[in-house]
Amino acid sequence: MVGGSPPSGLEGVVVGETAITRVGGEEGTLHFRGYEARSLAQQVAYEEATALLLRGELPSPSELQELRSSWYALRALPPEVELLAGKLPRATLPMEALRTGLSVLGAGMGPSPPREADLLPFIARAPTWIATWYRASKGLPPVPPDTTLGHVSSYLYMLEGRLPDPDLARALEEYFVLLSDHGMNASTFAARVVVSTLSDPASAMTAAVGALKGPLHGGAPGLVLDMLDAVGTPENAETWIEGALARKDRLMGFGHRVYKVDDPRALLLKEIARRYARPERFALAEAVEQAGLSALRKARPNHPLFLNVEFYAGVVLESVGLPRELFSATFGVARTAGWAAHILEQSANNRLIRPDAAYTGPKDRPVPQLSVAPPAAAVPRPA
Ligand code: ACO
Repeated sequence: MVGGSPPSGLEGVVVGETAITRVGGEEGTLHFRGYEARSLAQQVAYEEATALLLRGELPSPSELQELRSSWYALRALPPEVELLAGKLPRATLPMEALRTGLSVLGAGMGPSPPREADLLPFIARAPTWIATWYRASKGLPPVPPDTTLGHVSSYLYMLEGRLPDPDLARALEEYFVLLSDHGMNASTFAARVVVSTLSDPASAMTAAVGALKGPLHGGAPGLVLDMLDAVGTPENAETWIEGALARKDRLMGFGHRVYKVDDPRALLLKEIARRYARPERFALAEAVEQAGLSALRKARPNHPLFLNVEFYAGVVLESVGLPRELFSATFGVARTAGWAAHILEQSANNRLIRPDAAYTGPKDRPVPQLSVAPPAAAVPRPA
């Protein structure tokens, strides 16, 4: 290892190359394969965005049709996996269910290097698995996938058992595209580390879900709504935020490791929330946003913090009717496309990811005299 300590949390460290997503932290931009992510989210279906991430190009109409038909045919869960959904322990949390589901969906998966056809089943089945597990956890039977519906509508359909409102499904689709990838974030890096050992894609996806689960990454959107509920009214926002910061609590949905300005995803999600949230919910969210930004600016004038993607993501997911407990798992379902793209990219030009660490422990200590005698050698049993 070259001398010196690495930046804490690897901040600013470039750990590899990628041609998938460019995150412009200083200017607040996000591009997927060169296309501006918010424009994509407003114009393409999740299936098209997935093809773009995996293949590098948007699909032609015939390629899209072909992709849709193979994708939708994959949606149904293998029967033994569907059965498993009803057998997970009652205490299982949605992200744990997602972790388990992606793991079993890759059972016995072949060796590296993975191909697109190996990854597509994870993307296609993740919503089916989460919907099936969620319904089973509420004592409800599964809703079989409908192959005439797009990926995101189908997710809502399998959760609720009725056709979704097309506008709400489209709002959720914008969320799905927007969150489909985000450069070398913690979960993606975890996936790439796993696949770099020539392990299988299910192990990489499982590791990614584990990383996404934490509130410093994808575990925050439900907590944002908990915060809005605790604040209660716009008038209470300032006092509540000041109290939280005085207790040294972190404000969920604020701050980002890479963006030094507004997170571009937050800006679009805010507009979606404005359209679909109940007006009083949106007004409360805006009041908390303003109170949070101004309190954080006062507390840290030289390092202002901005909204991150999770703040209005919580409001959008609530507005489209998703249960709060499924927010993080829904984020994970949307991110499977990005993880898959990174698994393919890592595998195509692989070298084991094995960094080093600056050792800071004690050096060259003599082994002390043992104060107790080592265990006696096993005495042979009498014949
Ligand atoms: N509320 C209050 N203070 C904050 C917040 C916050 N949301 N975010 C950062 N800070 C403060 C920290 O306390 C720290 O203060 P200090 O220097 O006085 O110790 C300083 O800002 C720097 O914080 P770090 O944790 O070093 O910043 P980092 O880049 O590691 O954090 C993170 C990024 C984890 C997102 C952070 O801003 C945070 O915890 N936010 C709240 C949780 C959240 O919104 N998570 C979703 C992230 S988005 C995503 O991953 C999809």
